[in-house]
Amino acid sequence: MTLPFAPKTPVYGGDYNPEQWDAGTVDEDIRLMREAGVNLVSLGIFSWARMEPEEGRYELDWLAELIDKLYANGIMVDLATGTASPPAWMAEKHPETLPVTAEGIRFGFGSRQQYCPSSPLYRRKAAELAGELAQRFGAHPGVVLWHIGNEYGCHIHECFCEECAAQFRIWLLEKHGSVDGINKVWGTDFWSQRYGTIDQITPPRAMPTFSNPGQMLDWRRFCNHQILGCLLGEREQIRKYSDRPVTTNFMGAFRWLDYREWARYMDVITDDSYPEPSDPASACEVAWQADLMRGLAGGKPWFLMEQTTSEVQWRTRNASKRPGQYALWSLERLAHGADGVLQFQWRQSIRGSETFHAGMVPHAGKKSATWHEVVELGSTLQKLGPVVGAPQEANVAIVLDWESEWATMSAVGPQDWSHFRLAREWHRTLWEQGITTDIVGTDADLSRYTVVIVPGVLIDYREFAQRASRAVERGTQLLVVTPTGLVTPELEALQGGYLGSLQALLGVSVTDLYGLTAGVYEHDPMGVPRVHTEESDARDNLVNRLSRAVEVPGAAHSMPLAIDRDELERARDRLMAVDSPKVSLRPGLRGQLWGERVAMVQPDVEVFATFAASGGAIDVAGLPALTRRAVGAGAAWYLATDADGFTRAVIWQLLAAYARVHPAFAGLPDGVEAQERGDFLFLLNHSDRVAELAGIMGKDLVSGGEATGHLVLPPRSGAVIDRR
Ligand code: GLA
Ligand code: ZN
Repeated sequence: MTLPFAPKTPVYGGDYNPEQWDAGTVDEDIRLMREAGVNLVSLGIFSWARMEPEEGRYELDWLAELIDKLYANGIMVDLATGTASPPAWMAEKHPETLPVTAEGIRFGFGSRQQYCPSSPLYRRKAAELAGELAQRFGAHPGVVLWHIGNEYGCHIHECFCEECAAQFRIWLLEKHGSVDGINKVWGTDFWSQRYGTIDQITPPRAMPTFSNPGQMLDWRRFCNHQILGCLLGEREQIRKYSDRPVTTNFMGAFRWLDYREWARYMDVITDDSYPEPSDPASACEVAWQADLMRGLAGGKPWFLMEQTTSEVQWRTRNASKRPGQYALWSLERLAHGADGVLQFQWRQSIRGSETFHAGMVPHAGKKSATWHEVVELGSTLQKLGPVVGAPQEANVAIVLDWESEWATMSAVGPQDWSHFRLAREWHRTLWEQGITTDIVGTDADLSRYTVVIVPGVLIDYREFAQRASRAVERGTQLLVVTPTGLVTPELEALQGGYLGSLQALLGVSVTDLYGLTAGVYEHDPMGVPRVHTEESDARDNLVNRLSRAVEVPGAAHSMPLAIDRDELERARDRLMAVDSPKVSLRPGLRGQLWGERVAMVQPDVEVFATFAASGGAIDVAGLPALTRRAVGAGAAWYLATDADGFTRAVIWQLLAAYARVHPAFAGLPDGVEAQERGDFLFLLNHSDRVAELAGIMGKDLVSGGEATGHLVLPPRSGAVIDRR
């Protein structure tokens, strides 16, 4: 399967914002694009002010000329509807289109994305513009894709204006039926929040303290719905006049918008990804976002809509990519299922807010090292035609659920937590161990996977539990990590023991929450920065006669877990089919932040680890921390704490041993990632050292050389071995 516009080689190019340049520069741009091997550009993302300089007067000839020129030069266009940045006349004539903060401040004009997603005027004008463009260019052979809006929700993911309030009320009544229905679900009988009429309900504006959690959760859903509505309005107009596929650029695991829902309206999934180059785990961020996009695409190819060739300008400190890293991370996206990479932006601005954001053509032009890398990657991609459309198969899945992230954010307590953080950390564990992972929703067919990890899915879903049970029966190893199954989809706490519908399968229930270790936090639970050091505590305790006698296990930095090392070691040895590198158990296992009292509800539950009699969880010492229950051909595991990275790796190895899952390629030097995609083996050297690899046979599509057992990869470089 290939992208709907079936390119023969991976797509390559970038955002092209030609309104910044004179005609001569545009001609030079096209020459340079050809030199760099560019075959796709995103056009018009910020062009509304040029496309419709006055309300109702469209000027599209300049765009027509440009699309023709690009097409004549073999460059396809991802045509943007330009609606991410409404023009000045809209703010002037229709100030009610400007978004309002929770504090009631209406934003001004002069930046971008300054629109209220509920504004009927904005929506109508955006849809009309999309329609104009579709009528004019919808059948142009050079226009292969529609780019609706741009990074929806990036700056404005909620608006608190009167229009949004009115729409929120309508949405609430539709969902809950009546004001009483809303009162019930939100639990407004507490704190005297009961509403008498629908008009009393407002968005969760600035408040003295916590907003009602039910209101917050519905607000999250409503905001997602409103912003999606903007996209759908434009999409409908495009569909009237054009059959070209549509996309909008996602931003990885962007917590404010439920991309799983959005993905249903996309013909192609595209992503923007800007990992921090000064973080040693950035290549993992690349993999995480890519794996998520592959999942959202449902196995169909996706591509990267934006990355930077080097530094961005929007962090406080903007590290440059190291030599080779731009190409390496681009190859990494391909390794994880992408069929191309585009950059923001083609030519680096010389004025405006993004002047110091790198581009494909930097300020120094062809003299720059960046330009050299841009051309080099272009020529590499032209050699990777065979990879286009190749499928990627994973045996392991991590469940990611936007509603649970929202529920976690909306609930006041029980912990300052993020389901997405937990999911990302487990993904990292697998990535570090060389395992390819799918990121799936709670509606996924779990029996396709030998291992499924459920990292803190707060909401209890009956159907998900049923699907999980069937998968385990058929052989899946399912690992459920706390905090899972604490609330219903309407945020009502489960009674009679947490884990709800999963209790029967896991064989355990959670009777008491036992947290939190404070050591990892930089602020205390009241948000006050923690200034205590062990030294200051010791000095103060010379005089603190009363408090120095109080033990506070909850302030300990970790929760050691007691395991029978020999038994665990033997279990692993017995089960490991091949000798993939084993993590030593010496450093011991540890939980952090959170623990629970777990009770057995089935007799056949094995306990792999318990909370130890020291550290943060001493009050639950001896109680289960990691359990396993064999069911049918598989097993259901429960982890009652937030494991640190080392502990996650050990647990993973146990799961892998039972599931007999192996890395794509074992025995690689440190820093080298291997990913299989169809018949192609991607070998990516993320390290600063030359990597020598043994046992590699086949043609390397990147270098053109033939590997006959031995392959040398320079620092920050990659190879794509053709194994057909
Ligand atoms: C986002 C936007 C782009 C650009 C980049 C810069 O991804 O979509 O227009 O501003 O950030 O990193
Ligand atoms: Zn609004």
